[in-house]
Amino acid sequence: MTQEKLLELLGDMSLQEKVDQLLQLHEFFYTGNQEEVATGPAREMGITEEDITQAGSILGSYGAKKLKKLQDDYMAKQPHHIPMLFMMDVIHGMKTIFPAPIAQGAAFDPKIGKMAADIAAREAAVTGLHVTFSPMVDLVRDARWGRVVESTGEDPYLNAEYAKAIVEGFQGENNDLTEKFKIASCIKHFAGYGGAEAGRDYNTVEMSRPAFREYYLKSYKAGIDAGAALVMTSFNTVEGVPASVNKWLMRDILRKDFGFDGVLISDYAAIEESIYHGVSEDKRDAAKKGIEAGVDIDMMTGCYAANLAKLVEDGEVDEKLVDEAVLRVLELKNKLGLFENPYKDADEKLEKEMILSMPHRIAAREAAARTFVLLKNETDDGGFKYLPLKEGKKTAFVGPFVESQSIMSAWAVTGDEDSCVSVAQALRETFGSKYLYAKGCEILGDDVKIPGFRGMVHYPSTPEETEKLYVEAENVAKDAEQVVLFLGEDTTETGEAASKGFIELPEVQQELLRRVHKVNDNIIVVLFTGRPLDLREVSELSKSILVVWRPGTEGGHAIVDVLTGKRGPCGKLPMSFPYCVGQVPVHYDSLVTGRPAEPGTTEKFKSRYLDIPNEPLYPFGFGLTYTTIAMSDVKLDKSEMTADGKITATVTVKNLGDVVGVETPQLYIHDVKASIARPAKQLKGFEKVELMPGNAFDVKFEITKDMLTFVDGEGNEVLEKGEFEVFVGFDSATTNKASFVLK
Ligand code: BGC
Repeated sequence: MTQEKLLELLGDMSLQEKVDQLLQLHEFFYTGNQEEVATGPAREMGITEEDITQAGSILGSYGAKKLKKLQDDYMAKQPHHIPMLFMMDVIHGMKTIFPAPIAQGAAFDPKIGKMAADIAAREAAVTGLHVTFSPMVDLVRDARWGRVVESTGEDPYLNAEYAKAIVEGFQGENNDLTEKFKIASCIKHFAGYGGAEAGRDYNTVEMSRPAFREYYLKSYKAGIDAGAALVMTSFNTVEGVPASVNKWLMRDILRKDFGFDGVLISDYAAIEESIYHGVSEDKRDAAKKGIEAGVDIDMMTGCYAANLAKLVEDGEVDEKLVDEAVLRVLELKNKLGLFENPYKDADEKLEKEMILSMPHRIAAREAAARTFVLLKNETDDGGFKYLPLKEGKKTAFVGPFVESQSIMSAWAVTGDEDSCVSVAQALRETFGSKYLYAKGCEILGDDVKIPGFRGMVHYPSTPEETEKLYVEAENVAKDAEQVVLFLGEDTTETGEAASKGFIELPEVQQELLRRVHKVNDNIIVVLFTGRPLDLREVSELSKSILVVWRPGTEGGHAIVDVLTGKRGPCGKLPMSFPYCVGQVPVHYDSLVTGRPAEPGTTEKFKSRYLDIPNEPLYPFGFGLTYTTIAMSDVKLDKSEMTADGKITATVTVKNLGDVVGVETPQLYIHDVKASIARPAKQLKGFEKVELMPGNAFDVKFEITKDMLTFVDGEGNEVLEKGEFEVFVGFDSATTNKASFVLK
């Protein structure tokens, strides 16, 4: 449809019809018992039957047949036969579930994010979906926050690279949403949601403008620049004003500075929540503030639907604001080609063929293996590394995650556990049914840390049952030369509303580790987690640790591929693993302070703790391989550079071992003196290099002025002359250094 026709349509719509385009309802309003809907949620929200009939979009529904019918019924009743939008959280896969976003970040390879999004888009599109609420690009530093599993980590550059790649995966490189198997992508949660104080979900966010601009806003901008069709607001306040009614944030930064002209949707009920923040008087006031801030769609509240028309009629809201928002919604429908083809790609036949197809499973298996991070790998008495597993060495496989198919994430809402490959299934395929196995314990025991406090879902077994499982595990462990222990967090321990004050493994599993360690200390831990954990005890009691995150549908296969050496691990931590929770938030790119402490110093008046180190247990960017790769000093081709020039930093990497390895040289830069204090190091580039045994390779990074520029509190790009340090390493802590001067 031409823009002219869209405007004509808009001009022909009644005020309430327009307002209802801005209402998003859950599918329950259409598929649920209509009497229950009317007397329950509809009454609570203050919306009428007419609002439901005319609401512009639905969330939470999929399936080609179902959505086609919903669309037919809707369009028949909608006064102008405008098609409806179907939206859903397709976060790390539709049915073929890829590793969770935190794991994808660990691949340090945005191509993985793009591939996962491309396949997710295909599977989502054939089920009739038009929009996904993904990617979540919130920068995260606090391991207590359950939603770190949905983020690609603590670094603005890494997050921005992934934001761009994932948007491209969902929408295609041409951003032509009429293209087959492409869906619209929604950048969320704007803005700063990952900065929730003390890691408690939905909590206040307080930070300086330079920090907000420099660390937090970059990834949203990258996603918007890549063409994301939507942006979602966040639940938190920004400078005291809830984001979803924050005019400065939405009008000045998002619309003006970032030039975003797509659809801005509120997070679930977030416009109404401005009342509970104590900022809006009531729903009418919340609606006024929301539309004035430029929020187009009101997700799952009646604030807009029940109040906007009256606000316009009473002269309190300019109808132009409503028109502006409705036009953006109509434009999105048009960009998706829905006026010509309201079903888009919904197709029952393709649904059967494409979903969980072999090529999709193969891609998920490959992707998962590339996200695993080897944190530790000691050498056994025979002079061999514990990993990969040596053929012929008697190995016991123990732990609650051997048989578990609960290996997706709390946000894989469209995935089915039944289609997940467990470790047990993959072991059977590799070793037959003859491998040594014990369950060891349940994933979560009745081990609440604070007596009487029950915030979590538990699957307690009685003390007798737990003891029996421990004894079985000890017997199996005694019988073997080494034990692979599959431990980790329960699916419910990360995701939305899953913040934690203790970030060790569940106590029932820590105890399993201790019990096994007493009878056999040759322990390899395979760790399923959606957040950085306090791994002090795990690290002390094990010889190897392989972090496999929430690996998704093909998790079991990928894990056995890496354990057996069919593939080598090559992931890098996208978030620092803290020494203990007392360090949190801990991140590699903090400012230097006026009293920096050398590691290990006992000097009193330094920026340090008395009882723990400043350094995390495992730093950002860290991860081992199955081989030894050496790195030379950093060579710069010049010692001085001008703003329009460039400098090339070169390191030579060499595989000294006897197996192939994939390493990730990382480039960091430090602005030594500037008008505001600068981070000790900032990631500015990385490469993935695959090296055959004996192979050497020159890795070159081109340093240009954009890598030396910072954003100040007002959003200005600032480039200041002086000395810059250049670091290259295989992680953020161990680096080789050189320096140059910007003239
Ligand atoms: C979450 C969003 C999500 C939305 C819709 C909210 O609770 O914060 O990330 O997209 O629900 O499901």
